[in-house]
Amino acid sequence: MLVSATEMLRKAKAGKYAVGQFNINNLEWTKAVLLTAQENNSPVILGVSEGAGKYMGGYNTVMGMVKGMMKDLNITVPVAVHLDHGSLDGAKKCIEAGFTSVMFDGSHYDIDENVEKTKEIIELAHSKGISVEAEVGSIGGEEDGVIGNGEIADPQECKRINDLGVDMLAAGIGNIHGAYPDNWAGLSLDTLEEIQKLTGDRPLVLHGGTGIPDKMVRDAITLGVSKINVNTECQWTFAAATRKYIEEGKDKVGKGFDPRKLLAPGFEAIKATVKEKMDLFGSINQA
Ligand code: G3H
Ligand code: ZN
Repeated sequence: MLVSATEMLRKAKAGKYAVGQFNINNLEWTKAVLLTAQENNSPVILGVSEGAGKYMGGYNTVMGMVKGMMKDLNITVPVAVHLDHGSLDGAKKCIEAGFTSVMFDGSHYDIDENVEKTKEIIELAHSKGISVEAEVGSIGGEEDGVIGNGEIADPQECKRINDLGVDMLAAGIGNIHGAYPDNWAGLSLDTLEEIQKLTGDRPLVLHGGTGIPDKMVRDAITLGVSKINVNTECQWTFAAATRKYIEEGKDKVGKGFDPRKLLAPGFEAIKATVKEKMDLFGSINQA
């Protein structure tokens, strides 16, 4: 069932678990995430970065593919199609293309401008029943050309964005896109707690879900995180499984070069990673 993220995240916050956002890149990624959600009776969010949307042909292609696949594969669990780290223009295009959820990432603007632009997207999206994620502070590292300085969010600024009626709020709390360095200081759970106090029932979002220790993930969920974004880890496991297949020479045996065979180990690896995360986040059997 194609839905906005509002209700699934409200349920997750109340039930003290988190819904995974898994970024998609192509047909194999989409199919792997959707099937894993269905097999585990879990709600799921398909994350689409602007770069990945462009790669797949455009936002209309993404929506066509997801809708068709959900029908053909009989996917009945709640699924949201969500723009990840969107610009103002990108968010407007996704709303137009029928996405059920958008992130407007105004974290690189000063807070007044972030508030103004977030407000504009909320009005537009809510008039069509689409959920909105906003960001305060910054996620460190780089994802698909989105570069952040890792600035820890100011809880009062989070409250300002929260009070606009955003559906989910991402805050920089020391999280980083991609690999965490060996000397990483960890998540600032104190900041998260302060934000949670000021934002009440609002579902909070944890970006940079690759490589955070399990206990820290569980602590963050206890402190109000209801959506966790995972991207890099699926790319790593897909690449490792594909590399193994080729290094073992399997593409040279029979019709092992057929893309349907060549991409199968990577596809299974994404499924295994997504299931592992759903288990950690507690979303299995919550559809
Ligand atoms: O927006 C997407 C994410 O925050 C994913 O982060 O690539 O570190 O898993 P990650
Ligand atoms: Zn992110």
